[in-house]
Amino acid sequence: MERIKFKVNGKQYSVGCEVDSDTTLLDYLRETLKLCGTKYMCLEGGCGACIITATKNNEDIPQAINSCLVSVTSCQDWDIKTVEFVGNRLKGYHPLQKVLAECHGSQCGYCTPGWIMAMYR
Ligand code: FES
Repeated sequence: MERIKFKVNGKQYSVGCEVDSDTTLLDYLRETLKLCGTKYMCLEGGCGACIITATKNNEDIPQAINSCLVSVTSCQDWDIKTVEFVGNRLKGYHPLQKVLAECHGSQCGYCTPGWIMAMYR
């Protein structure tokens, strides 16, 4: 069986028969890669807490994608970015993150990483 290959935050990964086809990209990011900046709540595409950005099949324009709705086995040739790539306390925050924080653009903050990824290009 050929493996499904994709990048996450610039690193190459692949999955094969060790992963169930119903394993979501969200599950894979959080449970396998331990990238827990991508949050979740509704698990049905409604809240946006799980949004990541992906450039699919070498297209130029990245898309905001609800990672709870996508099987990780459907991510062939995707270039995926999560909020950890965009910015953090250690490497510094992206201007989107700074503006959102400085202008009080967040409520409890739980879904704020999803907002950032929806705006990030
Ligand atoms: Fe709510 Fe994915 S968890 S849209």
